[in-house]
Amino acid sequence: MAAVEPRAREGVPLLRIEALGLCFIPKRYALLDKVDLEIFPGEILGLVGESGCGKSLTGLACLGLFPSGVKPFSGRVLFKGKDLLCLPEKEVRAYRGRRVALIFQEPLNALNPVFTVGYQIEEVLKLHRGLRGEAARAEAIRLLSEVRLPDPETRIRNYPHELSGGMRQRAMIAMALAGEPELLVADEPTTALDVTVQAQILDLLLELRERRGLAILFISHDLALIREVADRVAVMYAGEVVEVAGKDELFENPRHPYTEALLSARPEFGTRKLRLLPGQVPSPGKWPAGCRFAPRCRERELRCEEEHPEMRPVGPGHAVRCFRR
Ligand SMILES: Nc1ncnc2c1ncn2[C@@H]1O[C@H](COP(=O)(O)OP(=O)(O)O)[C@@H](O)[C@H]1O
Ligand SMILES: [Mg+2]
Repeated sequence: MAAVEPRAREGVPLLRIEALGLCFIPKRYALLDKVDLEIFPGEILGLVGESGCGKSLTGLACLGLFPSGVKPFSGRVLFKGKDLLCLPEKEVRAYRGRRVALIFQEPLNALNPVFTVGYQIEEVLKLHRGLRGEAARAEAIRLLSEVRLPDPETRIRNYPHELSGGMRQRAMIAMALAGEPELLVADEPTTALDVTVQAQILDLLLELRERRGLAILFISHDLALIREVADRVAVMYAGEVVEVAGKDELFENPRHPYTEALLSARPEFGTRKLRLLPGQVPSPGKWPAGCRFAPRCRERELRCEEEHPEMRPVGPGHAVRCFRR
């Protein structure tokens, strides 16, 4: 596989989400609103925000997936210029796993408990790459060793429950890699793991990006993790992106009061809970008419409560949805 300059942000984005809006059909309210994101080949884009901000829905949209009752009402999801929202379902299915793959928090939900790890990886190899029999088995073993699962020749015959949490996460990554995707959506991939294993999985993702030129949408509520891996960061709040910047720029020069609040949040002593600013993310259907963050913002003015701010460029590659910054 050709090595790709990982941090290059030039040319055409691999994936571009344009003004995506998602609606919860039964209640007719928006869950995502005018979300814009770009992911370039080989880059790691961190997507951060408190629980309920819309990170997972955005991640699923990259695969052309929408939970039941959830439908797009505006925008486009372009993979190399092709809009997934307009493709026939058959083509989207061929795209999923082949061009873009998903890993998430709990591998037990991704891995089928009644089949061995090897069988499940071989199914993906058959579906997306036409590999069967010995060739599929050999490639499955190679993938498991690529993700550093110890003793892959034996582990391939294991059922998911016979593996530890960290090993299962590696097996899920191997399965995600089986279609040779160009983009990996990693939705809180280490949240369920202890700190040591978490660090190992992050190292593995960084290594895969270097070796395969894999682009990664790395979703996390934890800015410290994002800081470890991301090249650029998008911050979400109440169904929209409120700030985008290069990683160093975001950490050194945050503009949105919400980003600042996330940055100053520290885990409470003895717990893993974040002490964040008071109040909560407003639920879909209850977004304020003005800036959605205004009710929690110490700097709000009358305008913030009356008008909804648009994204505004504030520097190279840096944009913010705030009137005051
Ligand atoms: N299938 C669904 N039906 C209705 N509402 C949903 C569904 N999935 C997510 N939501 C709502 O959309 C919002 C964003 O959810 P999600 O993308 O999971 O947030 P995050 O990953 O940032 O925690 C939340 O308020 C959530 O309750
Ligand atoms: Mg989520």
